[in-house]
Amino acid sequence: MIIAIDGPAASGKGTLARRLADHFDFAYLDTGKLYRAVGLGVLRLGGDPEDEDAAGDVARNLQPSQLDDDELKSDAAASAASKVAAIETVRAALLDFQKSLAANPPGGKKGAILDGRDIGTVVCPDADVKLFVTASVEVRAERRHKELLQRGETSIYERVLEDLKERDARDSARAVAPLKPAEDATMVDTSAMDADQAFEAALKIASPVVAEKLR
Ligand code: DC
Repeated sequence: MIIAIDGPAASGKGTLARRLADHFDFAYLDTGKLYRAVGLGVLRLGGDPEDEDAAGDVARNLQPSQLDDDELKSDAAASAASKVAAIETVRAALLDFQKSLAANPPGGKKGAILDGRDIGTVVCPDADVKLFVTASVEVRAERRHKELLQRGETSIYERVLEDLKERDARDSARAVAPLKPAEDATMVDTSAMDADQAFEAALKIASPVVAEKLR
């Protein structure tokens, strides 16, 4: 049983995916972390995230321990991630890991939830449920801005907004696996929803499918 959740940065898809995974007791993989770990790995080696060879090497040698790093949440990691994510060899190197987790969820779980940009289109085109979670770029910037302030970091709304617009453009315009809804995805626009409302909306879509499949 696979639930694919895609959407742009700061759309709330991560929070939603985690809550759904808890609710159904499914495994959860935040695939953005893989790209962040590759981006951060290249930066730490003093390399350029747009350098195909450097990023490809880091992706092919990625270790699970690199996914538990607080620095992955940083803006530097996010920006490097969206650069390495445009490189075909990086995406190819990360694909097997994602597919095998989806096919064999760890811990004997009966299902897996993956969130990212190309889960419904490339990683799990046969997913049982596909959600595309969006919100206006202004709402997403406002949420990210508040989150940064809550974490005690400095943040300027206009900069967060520009940064998100830049990442949206890079994620959507790239040639390989661009950010776009799968044809059979259900759109969940969270612009006017809080996290609880988004969760309720997603449950309405996913619950009947999960109940039928695991019957
Ligand atoms: O979801 P996130 O902000 O952690 O993602 C970081 C970057 O990784 C984002 O700019 C696009 C890229 N990404 C991707 O290309 N494909 C995925 N499945 C997940 C993330």
